[in-house]
Amino acid sequence: MPEVLLETRGLGKRFGAVVAAEDVNVSVTAGEIVGVIGANGAGKTTFCNMVTGYLTPDLGQILFRGKDITGCSVGQATEAGIHRSFQIPQLFPGLTVYENLLLAVGVFGHRRPPWWQPLVRPEVENEATAIMERYRIAESATTRVDRLPQGVRKLLDIAMAMVGQPAMILLDEPTSGISTKEKFDVMGNVIDALRKSGATVLFVEHDMEVVGRYADRVIAFREGRVLADGTPDVVLEDPAVIEHVVGRRPGRAPDA
Ligand SMILES: Nc1ncnc2c1ncn2[C@@H]1O[C@H](COP(=O)(O)OP(=O)(O)O)[C@@H](O)[C@H]1O
Ligand SMILES: [Mg+2]
Repeated sequence: MPEVLLETRGLGKRFGAVVAAEDVNVSVTAGEIVGVIGANGAGKTTFCNMVTGYLTPDLGQILFRGKDITGCSVGQATEAGIHRSFQIPQLFPGLTVYENLLLAVGVFGHRRPPWWQPLVRPEVENEATAIMERYRIAESATTRVDRLPQGVRKLLDIAMAMVGQPAMILLDEPTSGISTKEKFDVMGNVIDALRKSGATVLFVEHDMEVVGRYADRVIAFREGRVLADGTPDVVLEDPAVIEHVVGRRPGRAPDA
């Protein structure tokens, strides 16, 4: 039996009168690649924020590997093995791709490096190089981050979030701001690298073609609730999902 990695029970979160999460029960198995969909304001980011320790739920429980992590800090979630990337990449803009990775690997890549060791060591350099190859960004090694095309920047951001080999990674709209043409290349590289690493992935995505191609499973949110949860072929054809998420009416015939 594959291990249940993440389980949420009855999660609830309100902002004033706005219900951002209500009775969210989700269970994710190790190695799954899960697409998270929903209209703007459906509660996708709130869900990611609660799982990664950025927000504390008002109600319910979050279990990771069977351990209750409800209300834990970001640091504790990271320590437990849950990392994330952001809609806007968090990188050092004045440093090159390689330098960003050296920093990430040097600081976070090895468990508590002794303080007397230099940040840049041969094993750190080797790991940074291997990561560039894994995410197919080696060609941009010496390019400063503020001069990178958006797609490469996203790949680097995700590569950095994967330093330390978390069991689970949450990607909040990894293809936002990327052209339709570039999207599939970027997601192809991301999912390929993440599958090889064995990580469990939750990615928020608006493009249903991207979701259909890369997700093993899809969770659809609406007004803070789970509207549908299942394989892409079932969820993306669910009439309620078509109406409330995809944005066209079920059935082919246009309204009279
Ligand atoms: N920090 C906040 N303060 C007040 N309202 C918020 C906050 N974060 C989210 N919301 C509201 O909660 C709802 C869900 O938001 P969010 O999770 O960001 O949706 P999504 O990521 O699906 O677009 C929205 O109505 C949003 O306006
Ligand atoms: Mg969002």
